[in-house]
Amino acid sequence: MILNKISIAEIKERMVKYPRRKSVILPALTVAYRQVGHLSDQIYREISDIIEVPYIEVAEAASFYTMFPKEPVGKYLIQVCHNISCALLGADSLVGYLEEKLGIKKGETTPDNLFTLISVECLGSCASAPMMQINDKYYENLTREKVDRILEELRRQG
Ligand code: FES
Repeated sequence: MILNKISIAEIKERMVKYPRRKSVILPALTVAYRQVGHLSDQIYREISDIIEVPYIEVAEAASFYTMFPKEPVGKYLIQVCHNISCALLGADSLVGYLEEKLGIKKGETTPDNLFTLISVECLGSCASAPMMQINDKYYENLTREKVDRILEELRRQG
């Protein structure tokens, strides 16, 4: 079992709130992601058993969302939006700058396991483009100077 007792209890709590079983899939994936840091087939099976929804439906839901990494990632998952508004306002150059600052390519994790960099579809903050999400937090209207400050702060927190 990968999911611990606390996560299982949390998922069961959500099942009370969402009597329709399929509606618990995303909250359950979120609980699992917060515990483990990424998802996997084994986790889909465990969730499937707990909420009594077929494995394939859990796996399909997880595959749709980039916010749920499917492999281990660094402590800080940097997701840069590359969709239209962000693209028009420099998302590609922002990714290039982050690659340079972190010394990795998109899709990679820094050797100290601190940062993973990916680019994703629209994160729903188009009016604040270009933007990125790091773990649960949005960083908007980005400039290179802002990126420098953000990375510095995260490195300080370790
Ligand atoms: S296009 Fe980047 S947040 Fe929507």
